[in-house]
Amino acid sequence: MNTPIKVAIFASGNGSNAENIAKYFENNESIIIDSFYTNKVDAYVIERAKNLGIHCLYYKNSDFREGNIVLGELEERGVDFIVLAGFLLKVPENIIQKYPNKILNIHPALLPKFGGKGMYGDRVHQAVKEAGEKESGITIHYVNECFDDGEVVFQAKCEVLINDSADDIAEKVHALEYKYFPEIIEKVVLGKI
Ligand code: GRF
Repeated sequence: MNTPIKVAIFASGNGSNAENIAKYFENNESIIIDSFYTNKVDAYVIERAKNLGIHCLYYKNSDFREGNIVLGELEERGVDFIVLAGFLLKVPENIIQKYPNKILNIHPALLPKFGGKGMYGDRVHQAVKEAGEKESGITIHYVNECFDDGEVVFQAKCEVLINDSADDIAEKVHALEYKYFPEIIEKVVLGKI
């Protein structure tokens, strides 16, 4: 049997996607969720990692931004692939260079609309509402040096009704994330898309 591919998940907050992904791969023989990485000392994703029995590492922003501490840790653990699930820092260039086309992000809207610096979390759904959009959705894309700019791998849409609040939109988008993100990660990691 081939050695399983090790995936690390970077998350800054709640971590519901990180948990959903970890559960999806729990009994997978080809892919292992090796570790979670966070830049927020009080992120709920740390609690989720504990409950899941997944190794979780916290680094302050400056450790992510400068030097090779995080990269060194990834290499030492033999991480092959990185998934960003609500990670709010830009991935440093040294990590992007070591993981070419091996970092995926999920954005909670249909890029190229409603993306870029500062567009995260509820701000995205609020902007979708204010723009009077009739649909929103998710975009799964490779990560490059710019925010929300790498090649798109997959999109899925949901309807936005005129009376939907930003929270209603968030709920629909989260449902799409839980449904599609793990299986798209699996396909990308295994080279099937
Ligand atoms: C998700 O909506 C994801 O698309 C975005 O950040 C949010 C993270 O949510 N990048 P959670 O922390 O996984 O609950």
